[in-house]
Amino acid sequence: MPQAQTLEKLAIDGGPKAKPTPYGMGKRFGTEELAQLKEALEQQTLFYAKGSKTKAFRERFAARYGVKHVVTCSSGTAALHIAVASAGIKPGDEVITASITDMGTCIAILQCGAIPVFADLDPHTYTMDPAAVEKLITKKTAAILPVHLTGAPCEMDAFKQLAARRSLKLIEDCAQSYHTGYKRQLCGTIGDAGCFSLNDFKHISAGDAGMVLTNDDELAHRAELFADKCYDRAPNAERNPFSLAMNYRMCELHAAVALAQLEKLDGIIAARRRFGDGLHAGLEGLPGIHPQRFVEGARPSYWFYLLRVDEKVLGPRDKVAEALAAEGLRVSAGYVPYATYLHKIFRNRSGFGGTEWPFSLAPHIRYEPGLCPNAEAICADSIQVGINEFYTDEDLAQTLVGFRKVATQLAARS
Ligand SMILES: Cc1ncc(COP(=O)(O)O)c(C=O)c1O
Repeated sequence: MPQAQTLEKLAIDGGPKAKPTPYGMGKRFGTEELAQLKEALEQQTLFYAKGSKTKAFRERFAARYGVKHVVTCSSGTAALHIAVASAGIKPGDEVITASITDMGTCIAILQCGAIPVFADLDPHTYTMDPAAVEKLITKKTAAILPVHLTGAPCEMDAFKQLAARRSLKLIEDCAQSYHTGYKRQLCGTIGDAGCFSLNDFKHISAGDAGMVLTNDDELAHRAELFADKCYDRAPNAERNPFSLAMNYRMCELHAAVALAQLEKLDGIIAARRRFGDGLHAGLEGLPGIHPQRFVEGARPSYWFYLLRVDEKVLGPRDKVAEALAAEGLRVSAGYVPYATYLHKIFRNRSGFGGTEWPFSLAPHIRYEPGLCPNAEAICADSIQVGINEFYTDEDLAQTLVGFRKVATQLAARS
């Protein structure tokens, strides 16, 4: 590490930037996506059950993940809704999930008339704490829904055992975790179902779309029907919907882009891991910086990197983030401003049509500050480092110089 740079004045105080050059950039979409789109259009149908693209995407994703079924759909939220509904979750059931997650996770539960119960996170891995989850299990608990946040796996052995012992469904939210490894398994293949997002911010994008992975034939069949108006598309099947469902179909255009993106996934993961692993190792030992920790057997895929600041050593988190950003680093203060249960929808118990339903089915479940202290602390003192597959080794080296410079100098001031 070039010591001279760490002694230079901080950029926020008018000194030179630790990262004077912009981060590597590149094109996510190119001739491969265009070729797939052209072929899709030339089919003269964009309907998933008639064209070849959705079918091919399902087959390739299933082969890559080694699962029996991939059900495609229109978003990650849709995938989660399909999985929760197909797992048999009913109105009034409780589903335990992470206290920091995207609304999509909660929408899926609420749209089944079920109640999200938020479990606190491990303060270092930012994934659900199995002990906290176990304490929340009641007679009404029907499922556990771990979220592999940031591309880092949850402690799946513990959740798998807990789910088996208490006869609960286990549904994985893998929206942020393509190719995330856990003890030689891929996240998304460990529970009853794994749910993925192809929205524009994920490792790979089709603009918007999603998929549910499962090895359970029954669940897969229910998922197919739930995603397509309960219309059975099997040849010669009777068109006679028997159950409430959605239209969450993926169309051939999305599948075409997803197919091309899939070819790039290995390279994307490898590049993100090179940067992520390097960042993780390089942050170790810096004053006032608590690097992210990973559960045993984890192979993270770095959708982004989240570290925590010791404010007693470095001063207020927002000021640290400002100082890092001034050095030219791609960082921001935290991931989300507050724990998910503090969103207005939960605080006000705003359900269907302006009523409190389904929250009214669970008056004992409260959503209030202090519910999950670790999650709230993570929101308050974490710093997010953006990671992108186009970042170079020089980007990594300069990012670490920036962190070292800011951490050592702010620590020396306190
Ligand atoms: C953890 C998590 N779950 C679910 C979703 C929902 O995915 P989508 O935006 O495709 O509906 C997201 C998307 O940001 C997410 O990050």
